Amino acid sequence: MDRIELIQKIFQKTEFENYLEIGCQTGKSFLPIRAKNKTAVDPVFKIPLGRRFKWLFKWPANSKARYFTLESDVFFDSQKAYLQNLEQLDVVLVDGLHNFRGALHDVLHSLVYLSNDGIIILHDCYPPHEAASIYADIFPTEEQQQQAKGWTGEWCGDVWKSMAYLLEKYPNLLDVGVIDTDYGLGYVRFKTAPTSREFSVDEELFDKINQLSYSDMKSDPKKIINLQPASYCETILSLY
Ligand SMILES: C[S@@+](CC[C@H](N)C(=O)[O-])C[C@H]1O[C@@H](n2cnc3c(N)ncnc32)[C@H](O)[C@@H]1O
Repeated sequence: MDRIELIQKIFQKTEFENYLEIGCQTGKSFLPIRAKNKTAVDPVFKIPLGRRFKWLFKWPANSKARYFTLESDVFFDSQKAYLQNLEQLDVVLVDGLHNFRGALHDVLHSLVYLSNDGIIILHDCYPPHEAASIYADIFPTEEQQQQAKGWTGEWCGDVWKSMAYLLEKYPNLLDVGVIDTDYGLGYVRFKTAPTSREFSVDEELFDKINQLSYSDMKSDPKKIINLQPASYCETILSLY
């Protein structure tokens, strides 16, 4: 099961209405999701006109989808009124900046608005090999690609570190793990209703997690990112 199917099935099984996608690019994952209220955030949208029309026809609620041409940090900072007006986010796909800090910010910002039984899904949390896990700001430069031994064009960055961070920081508050499918689907849910909605980066823990290498994670992915088999998608669905 990939991210699109998992998210779609969650909407099918619930009364959830509000979907946020951070990092939308060509709309491949955003447009097919059959949710009532959809919000997309990306500083550079590249949605082909034909795809936009096709999905307007197949899912008419796409006509009122909101598109914010912004970096996600700027979106969360400047659109508080919009987010509060939505009341709550039910499902969030984090697929924007593919680095530890970017993904962590996106999760922490989303948790402020996530419904108590909502879910955040993160793409690219289990890189297939070390070259796919190298750090880059937006995308590895030609030079970084040449230096990365075994580069195949596949790239997940070090998003997986955000899962390691959340597991260590919030063992009682959050249910966190990575499903071994579609380059690693991270999931984040509340285990219990939060008493506070203030989340900030613990820089000390950030630095500690940031020192972990890809091989550290691969030596014990169950412990470091709570890796689950692909069949765990069904377990997630059974919660709804
Ligand atoms: C891998 S693509 C998203 C793919 C899409 N979710 C899908 O499944 O087809 C990553 C996107 O994140 C966007 N992006 C980069 N930096 C971002 C940021 N700071 N905030 C939000 N999106 C960002 C890029 O412009 C790019 O379109």
